[in-house]
Amino acid sequence: MHRLPKQNYHDIERIIEFDFVRATEAAALNSLRWLGRGDKEKADAAACDAMRGMFDLMNICGEVVIGEGIKDDAPGIFKGEQLGTWLPGSPQFDIAIDPIDGTTNISKGAPNSISCIAAASPEERVKVALRDVPSFYMSKLAYGPRVIQYMQKRGDSLKIDSPIPETLAIVARAVDKRVQDVVVMMLDRPRHKEIVEEIRAAGASLRMIGDGDIAAAMAPSLPESDVDLYMGIGGSPEAVLAAAGIKCLSGDMQCKMWPRDEKERKKLIDDGCKDLDRVFFTDDLANGKNIVFCATGISDSALLRGVKSKGTTAITHSLLMRAKSKTVRFIRATHNLQNKTIRLRSDKSEHLI
Ligand code: FBP
Repeated sequence: MHRLPKQNYHDIERIIEFDFVRATEAAALNSLRWLGRGDKEKADAAACDAMRGMFDLMNICGEVVIGEGIKDDAPGIFKGEQLGTWLPGSPQFDIAIDPIDGTTNISKGAPNSISCIAAASPEERVKVALRDVPSFYMSKLAYGPRVIQYMQKRGDSLKIDSPIPETLAIVARAVDKRVQDVVVMMLDRPRHKEIVEEIRAAGASLRMIGDGDIAAAMAPSLPESDVDLYMGIGGSPEAVLAAAGIKCLSGDMQCKMWPRDEKERKKLIDDGCKDLDRVFFTDDLANGKNIVFCATGISDSALLRGVKSKGTTAITHSLLMRAKSKTVRFIRATHNLQNKTIRLRSDKSEHLI
């Protein structure tokens, strides 16, 4: 009898990727009942419970290398946690995870919340695929493939430290718009007061968001988003997740550590950060090709529509991509709520939503 050769999977992410998107879908669906209810901790706990429950069904050895930024003792999935069954011989994944980016948005019923995961399987010559940046915040500048192509062709280059009018002028030329039509997305924070003034003085169009800068940083890399540039200071774990997504979309991002105060600056130096001015590009934060990125919209954002729930159905919108193939899959799933169950870690059983 002719026997098929044993498979030696070089492309394990290709096989497992749909399970990751099941995990973000489960987190989005399970947190939905907290939309607008003023309790971000409960929303986060529900998302984490569903995500862990889904991972419990996945035969992988997953280790969280980048968890949620630790804020106000919020519940969360943090660095060091093991996810998956860890059955001997199961494939290894380093995981960056944010069960909800934009928990405050959910509690207010506001837009711009997603659930997302980046996972990297081991790769020759890649020591650290998903970089754990030690600062709490990073300053970020993210742009899409059109800007990169323009820079390659024209020799212009965007730099995170360049004066804002210069940056806006390059982006305007790259996307073939007038500066006043360039759309810049940014977190609405007092620390951005000066940048906001400069952007307004230059005449560009700002879109301020309450929370959730993973979707916002990825938006310029999606042609249909209408966002040309993401700028500003946000969480470092979110920068790495966004970098993984942006890389799959062929865009780029420049980031720098942004210590909140002198105490943090000193700690970073004492802990061995030699160059606080180093600029990290997408590849420095999400290195290699064996990376999967997926996200599911919870409330509407520039990246993804949120969950639409009506009667006995809920529709989720997700994005699933791999750095190796750069295939970008939009997955619109209709869930029949009379049949659909989600497995929760808390009691290890399946639940109707
Ligand atoms: P959470 O959902 O964990 O609260 O994070 C939301 C977020 O807006 C991130 O997207 C962003 O990177 C970070 O918080 C900004 O931090 P801060 O709210 O402290 O400015």
